[in-house]
Amino acid sequence: MRIVLMGPPGSGKGTQAKRLADRYGMKHLSSGDIFRAEKSSGSELGKALAKYMDAGQLVPDDVVVEIMAKAITAVDSKQGLLLDGFPRTVAQAKALDETLAKARSPLDGVAEITADDSAIVRRIVGRRSCPQCNKVYHTEFMPPRKDMQCDACGAKLVQRADDTEPVVERRLAAYHQQTEPVMGYYRGRGGLPVLTIDGNQDVKDVTADLTGALESLGNV
Ligand code: AP5
Repeated sequence: MRIVLMGPPGSGKGTQAKRLADRYGMKHLSSGDIFRAEKSSGSELGKALAKYMDAGQLVPDDVVVEIMAKAITAVDSKQGLLLDGFPRTVAQAKALDETLAKARSPLDGVAEITADDSAIVRRIVGRRSCPQCNKVYHTEFMPPRKDMQCDACGAKLVQRADDTEPVVERRLAAYHQQTEPVMGYYRGRGGLPVLTIDGNQDVKDVTADLTGALESLGNV
């Protein structure tokens, strides 16, 4: 099964994608994680990505599509795919359709996780992430067992450079202006299931709603 997880920054896409990937053995591809790994490598591409990411702006479509098409094509089509953070513009959604059509493995559905702007800011400002295994924590809602240390791999947790209140406001504005139209694109396609999940609930309740909705589509 190939699913796109949509939703504003901090709605819980990454948290839920990891839980779904563990449960169903699907490949989780997060554009944000891929770009942050490139940033940490210190490459010229990573430096170019950082300028947009640290300012809370979207990376240009041509750069995003090239990186993500390569990553998607490398996934075994039998494994199943969870896309998190891509596509984020209508042009990216069209490019994704082309990539999947070439691989004869079209999307099975889109799941949008909704969350209120006030909850989002609180979640993002308290987020701490593992730079090694990408596991995500929250100082209040999901603290690690040992202070600032990843439960899974023991690395020191970090706060993302774009997880400050002013940058979150810009990321939210980019979401409303550039990414919300992608939902209209998918809803207008006909025949493609588009699911809406209430992301304001506890993590486990969001997972229960998501798994119920995906299992109702079959093929997971
Ligand atoms: P990206 O990394 O994709 O960031 P994002 O979409 O802004 O999403 P987040 O990672 O902030 O949030 P999330 O929804 O995954 O929430 P999480 O599960 O972590 O992108 C970063 C940047 O890269 C972009 O700004 C852009 O510059 C660039 N970029 C990436 N893709 C691009 C593209 N396609 N085109 C152009 N540019 C692109 O949860 C957040 C926090 O809340 C965590 O602390 C978590 O523990 C907590 N939490 C989660 N769920 C709950 C819950 N139900 N209750 C309480 N707390 C919760």
